Amino acid sequence: MKIPDIKILDEKDPRLHQVSKEVTFPLDDKTIQTIYDCLDYLEASQIEEIAEKYDLRPGMGLSLCQIGIMKRIFVISEDYNDGTFGRYIVINPKIISHSEELIYVGEGEGCLSVNRETVGIVPRYARIKVRAYDEHGNEYTIRVREDIAIAFQHEMDHLDGILFVDKIDPKNPFKNRENMREI
Ligand code: NI
Repeated sequence: MKIPDIKILDEKDPRLHQVSKEVTFPLDDKTIQTIYDCLDYLEASQIEEIAEKYDLRPGMGLSLCQIGIMKRIFVISEDYNDGTFGRYIVINPKIISHSEELIYVGEGEGCLSVNRETVGIVPRYARIKVRAYDEHGNEYTIRVREDIAIAFQHEMDHLDGILFVDKIDPKNPFKNRENMREI
């Protein structure tokens, strides 16, 4: 297996704190290939023996700003735990509705650009409906829930230059936990 040559920027890089630009279609072939490379990379990173061999940190989501491409594009790779993966390609996303219910990752969120221990939780909607475009410029709507809903919201924040750590109050890192459901 060939691992795509992807260099992920660290949180110190100013590009991770900038707002990415709306995408216009058609995408050029190079950008489309980069999208597929990011998905291949995420899949490889979630396969234990490959991750070990190539020293990859496991990740399920990546925004293009994390590799220095300031376009409103992210990808998510969902491990179905049967050797296959779901692929989400999300361009110019907008949340069109969301649940009242809030959830959070009990062990804390992770990010391929945040290479340190973090403490604290981030409130996320349990369910969201998103309108977006695929890599060919086709508009679609999708409903996602639980961990995939969290991944979508984490990545949508990246498109606005926000990291999950920016949403944690260091003085009260578990604020409002009692009003949310842990996943
Ligand atoms: Ni991230």
